[in-house]
Amino acid sequence: MVSSAADRPYTLRFVRHLCADPNPEGPGYREIVMPTSLDGRRKGLFHAAHPGSYARIEALALGGGGLKLAARVWPTLPGKGRQALVSIDVDGAAIRLEVGPHGGAQLRLGAETVAVDAPMLSRRWYAIEAIVDVAGGRLSVTQTPLEPVGTLVDSGRGEAKAKLRPLSGTARVLVAAALEGDDVIAHFNGKIERPRVATLNDVAIGEWDFSQGIPTQRVIDIGPQAAHGQLVNLPTRAMAGSNWTGAVHDWKSAPEQYGAIHFHSDDMGDCGWPEAFALDVPREWPSGFYAAHIKSEAGEDYIPFFVRPAKGAAKAEVAFLVPTFSYQVYSSYWRPERSVEILARARAWGALLETPGYNTQFGLSTYNYHADGSGVSITSMLRPQLDTRPRQMSLHDPAPKGSGTGRINCDSYVVDWLDRAGIAHDVLTDHDLHEEGVAALEPYRVVICAQHPEYHSLRMIEAFERFLGQGGRLMYLGGNGFYWRAEPSADAPHALEVRRAEGGIRVWATEPGESYNQFGGGYGGLLRRVGKASHKLVGIGFSTQGRHLGFPYAFTDGIRNPRVRFMTEGIESAATPGARFGDSGFMGGGAAGFELDSADPKYGTPPNALVVAKGVVIHDDYGWVNEDMLIHRHPRPREEWSCADMTFFETASGGAVFSVGSMTYVGSLPPENYGNVCARLTTNVLRRFMDPRPFA
Ligand SMILES: [Fe+2]
Repeated sequence: MVSSAADRPYTLRFVRHLCADPNPEGPGYREIVMPTSLDGRRKGLFHAAHPGSYARIEALALGGGGLKLAARVWPTLPGKGRQALVSIDVDGAAIRLEVGPHGGAQLRLGAETVAVDAPMLSRRWYAIEAIVDVAGGRLSVTQTPLEPVGTLVDSGRGEAKAKLRPLSGTARVLVAAALEGDDVIAHFNGKIERPRVATLNDVAIGEWDFSQGIPTQRVIDIGPQAAHGQLVNLPTRAMAGSNWTGAVHDWKSAPEQYGAIHFHSDDMGDCGWPEAFALDVPREWPSGFYAAHIKSEAGEDYIPFFVRPAKGAAKAEVAFLVPTFSYQVYSSYWRPERSVEILARARAWGALLETPGYNTQFGLSTYNYHADGSGVSITSMLRPQLDTRPRQMSLHDPAPKGSGTGRINCDSYVVDWLDRAGIAHDVLTDHDLHEEGVAALEPYRVVICAQHPEYHSLRMIEAFERFLGQGGRLMYLGGNGFYWRAEPSADAPHALEVRRAEGGIRVWATEPGESYNQFGGGYGGLLRRVGKASHKLVGIGFSTQGRHLGFPYAFTDGIRNPRVRFMTEGIESAATPGARFGDSGFMGGGAAGFELDSADPKYGTPPNALVVAKGVVIHDDYGWVNEDMLIHRHPRPREEWSCADMTFFETASGGAVFSVGSMTYVGSLPPENYGNVCARLTTNVLRRFMDPRPFA
C-alpha cells in the first residue's frame, strides 16, 4: 500500500539487504537488486490517514417518537474542543450528544443546542442523559457526577423549547465520534460506558454493553434489534468502568465491572489504503531481508519485508529470528527531538529522512502517551511504520564512526556476518513463531535471536522452551530481551497489545485494575511476572540501562573451562582471563552498552550457566531496573548487575544456549572485516552449535 503526496508517480524496484546501515564509514551498505515484472514507473495516488477511534453501528431502526440518549463517561480532555459521545444520523437529521467546547455535556439537533454550563472534571465518571421530546417540542441534557467533589459544582442541566420533526428510519450511530459527510470528526478522548438509545418511556432501542466481547473489535447491542457495531482504530478495552470496586483486577472474573472503552483521538488501526502492487515472491529468492524501494520526485522509502524459504524447499541449519514483535511495538515512536537531532547526518549519509516525528498522522508507539496522557497500549502494523525501515539511523551515535542504527539496520549486521562467513541461513519472524509455535523452529539446529528481542507472547516463549527441550541451540545476540509480554489480537491480527503493569523500565504504567490484556485476557506486563523470567530461558536478564555508549567485555576465568574450549579456537592468545575485547564497534563504540543483561540465580539462571566474559559498565548514566529495587538500595553489588554477562549453558537433550546480554554487541561484529575477537568468538559458537554432536 502506497500513498504518494500530490499523486506523484514513483518508481519501484525490489532489493535484498545484506547490510542496511547507511553509514558511509560503517560496515558498508549492501543491497542486491532483485528484478521483477513490477519494476519501473508507477502511477501514484495520495491516501490520507485518519486517526481517532470510535464505534460504528450501521443500522438502528428508529420508530419516529422521541428519544432518550444516555452514556456514562470519563472524559480525559474536557474543554479541549467539541467531542462526540453518541451521534445519530437519520433521515437527514443529525443528533449529537457531546462534550461541548467548554467541557460541559451538550445536545445538538439541527440549529438547536442545549448545554450544561459546568464543565466536567477530567478523569471522573459522569452520567449523561439527553432527551429529544418531539411531541413536547423540548430538548434537554443533564450531567450528573458519579464521584461528586462536594465543594465544586460539576453537575447541571440544559433545556430549551424547539420545533422538532419526528425522527424515523434507519439511523447510523457513532460512539465517540461524529459523521460530517463522509468524514469522521469530533473524536472523544476518554472512557465511555454503556451508550444507550431509548424511547421516552425508557424502552431500549439500542444499548451497547462494552463488557461483552472484550477481546474483539465488535460492540454488542443488548437491545431488541441486536444492532451490533464495529470498533475502528483500535480503542482500548478491558478498562475499569464506573462501577469498578477495586476488589477484582482480572476483567474475566467480573466483566460487568469492565464495561468501559477508552477512546483516543490519536488511536490508529488500519489505514485502509488500497493495494498499490502485489508481488508473488519468486521461489528462487533466498530467504532474507528485503524491501520495496519506492522513489518519487519528492522523496523515497524502503518498505521492508522478510522472505522465508519457499514451502517444501530445503531449509538451512541456522535460522535468524527477526524480532518483528519488538519492531512493531517500538514502531511509530514519536520523538520530535530525535528527528531533529539526526536530520543533518541522515541527509549527509543519504539515509531515509522521514520519521514519525514529522508524520504524526500515522499514530503513536507504545513508548508514547496519547494526547490525553494515557499510555499507548495497542500498536498496529497496517500503517506506515516510518522508523522501522532499512537504510535508516535511529539516533545520533556519539561514538566516532558510530552508526546509531536500530532494528532492521543493526539486525542486518547479523545477516552481513553470516553472509561473509559463508553460513547458509534462513530468516523467520516473531509473527511466524507466534502463529506456528515450535514447528517454526523445529527444522533448525540453531536459532539466532537479534539485537533487541524484547517483546514476546506467551506462546512464543513456550515455543522456545520446547525447542530447547528438544535439543535446539539458541544464540541470543542482544540485550533487554524476553522482557515484556506482547499479545496479538485474534480478530485483528495486525494489532499487538502491551500493558505496562507493575515493574519494568517503562515510559508509562497501567492504571489500577487495568493490567490484564484485552487480547487473550492474560496478565500483562513483564514476562518475569508470569513465571517466564528471561534468566530461565537464556541465563540472563535485563538489569541496567544507560546512554547509547559501548564498552568492552573482559574474559572471566570461565573462558578456561573445557566446556567452552570451542569458543576460543584461533583466538587462544586473546581469550585469556582478564583480557578485553569488543572495544570497537558501530553502536556506541563497544560491544557492551545501552541495555545490559546479567545473570542471577534468584530469577532462574541455571546452575550450570557459565559466565565466560563480563562487560561491566560503571557509568553515571547507567542505572538499575526498578523491578530489582525494593528499598532505596540495590540488593546486589553494582558490578554484579551493572554489566553484560556473556553466558553459556547446556540444556537437556544435547542443546545449548549462548547469550551476550548487550544491545550494542552486534555493532561490534563488523570491525576488522568481521575478523575481530568478538566476531570470531561468535562465529566459533555458531559453528559448534551447528555441529550435531550433542553437548554433554
Ligand atoms: Fe527496549
